[in-house]
Amino acid sequence: MAKQRKIFVCRECGHELHKWMGRCPACQSWNSMEEESVREPAPPNLARLRKPVEPVGLPDIEMGEGGRLQTGMAELDRTLGGGAVPGTTILVGGDPGIGKSTLMLQAALRYAARGEKALYVTGEESLQQVKMRADRLGLSQVPLLVLAETEYNRIAQHISRERPAVVVIDSIQTAMKSELGNVPGSLIQIREVTASLVQLAKTEGVTFFIVGHVTKEGTLAGPRLLEHMVDCVLYFEGERYQSFRILRGVKNRFGSTNEMGIFTMDEKGLLEVNNPSALFLNQRPQENVPGSVVVPVMEGTRPLLVELQGLVTPLYVGGSPRRTSTGLDYNRVVLVIAVLEKRVGLQLYSADIFVNAVGGVRIAEPAADLGVALSLASSSREKPLLPQTLVLGEIGLTGEVRPVGRVEERLKEGSKMGFVRCIMPRGNLEGSYFSSRDQLEKDLELVGVSTLHQALKEAFN
Ligand SMILES: Nc1ncnc2c1ncn2[C@@H]1O[C@H](COP(=O)(O)OP(=O)(O)OP(=O)(O)O)[C@@H](O)[C@H]1O
Ligand SMILES: [Mg+2]
Repeated sequence: MAKQRKIFVCRECGHELHKWMGRCPACQSWNSMEEESVREPAPPNLARLRKPVEPVGLPDIEMGEGGRLQTGMAELDRTLGGGAVPGTTILVGGDPGIGKSTLMLQAALRYAARGEKALYVTGEESLQQVKMRADRLGLSQVPLLVLAETEYNRIAQHISRERPAVVVIDSIQTAMKSELGNVPGSLIQIREVTASLVQLAKTEGVTFFIVGHVTKEGTLAGPRLLEHMVDCVLYFEGERYQSFRILRGVKNRFGSTNEMGIFTMDEKGLLEVNNPSALFLNQRPQENVPGSVVVPVMEGTRPLLVELQGLVTPLYVGGSPRRTSTGLDYNRVVLVIAVLEKRVGLQLYSADIFVNAVGGVRIAEPAADLGVALSLASSSREKPLLPQTLVLGEIGLTGEVRPVGRVEERLKEGSKMGFVRCIMPRGNLEGSYFSSRDQLEKDLELVGVSTLHQALKEAFN
């Protein structure tokens, strides 16, 4: 029998050591070493010893049939940058129970329903349970191949024989290579199985979707490690008590990571949301409450109306002021608060301040600055903004309101959703930012401001 040997593996970079160290000598991260046992001697990695290859001139490289592979779920394809690139590996991570299996099964079924060959490898659920879910999705008659298997070599054999174009591995934590001898889900198993899947994807031209029980904070074995190895990383997120889910690109070797897909979960599975602005604004309890402002932000190529809520409350004697932001860049919020104090004279140093982007959206762009400023001013003055008013603009340190990109798309979305006025950077009205401004101004009054001071005047009239 092969002898077992203890080693230590870095959770972050996969570096192996023979003794424990507080800091990984390879990637310098602290406390990332985990103990693993491996079989002695380590088996030679045959995949890496395949036939030698020669360098090829770039123009001589032959392309496959090309084109991206559409799964049939538009929101998933959008997040991938217009479909998956054949021969790549995509990691789909997310909290337990968020709907990863539902998303992947639904995508595989849609794909197979078009007469294409797809394989769903389930290591967590039985064939019957997968069928039950397909039933719930109303797609149990689709000729999708389902395999209940966790051993990598056997999975690879089936793939070589069946030659599916798309394979879902649900999940990487249950997949294992028997020759390694570690338990499934251990760092070494995850690393080795993923490396082999990435290799197999390239040699067989298969697209792999790998489900991983990993959160952004990386609470489970091997997430960071996995992210480095695969081509795309998507995270499936959602608020526990709400039905909508957001699929977000975190890494994409073949497209932008700005895109996101929006779904709602109901008894028929995941429904794609075509009009996310309506979904997010629906949750607005009433329009004219102090602190509530709607901003048009860009999520990738798509404009999205999001409600910002600000709350300014007096600080009790002795406490230190709190600044909390959810869904917005904390540093930008702090900057906006400082500018409000210094340039408009709003006294915020003795207040607790909370700012929230409603609906689990995360806004990274500074175009929401003016929205943050007006929501705080509105809450601090206990005065709502004028109704049906959008707010757009970046704020500079001197209190100036700066132009933002892609105004026309944002404004059109606002107009579509029934807004009648937009307080926005004057610079945007002076430059050539519009292709058909007259058309837009029929429904939407464009109020240009060049300073925060002016914006406050216009917002509260
Ligand atoms: N009939 C139903 N109606 C509405 N939602 C449902 C229904 N059945 C299941 N769900 C939703 O599906 C979720 C589970 O989905 P799924 O099993 O795909 O998640 P998962 O991320 O794969 O979970 P795990 O981490 O356990 O593998 C549940 O949390 C629930 O919200
Ligand atoms: Mg699952």
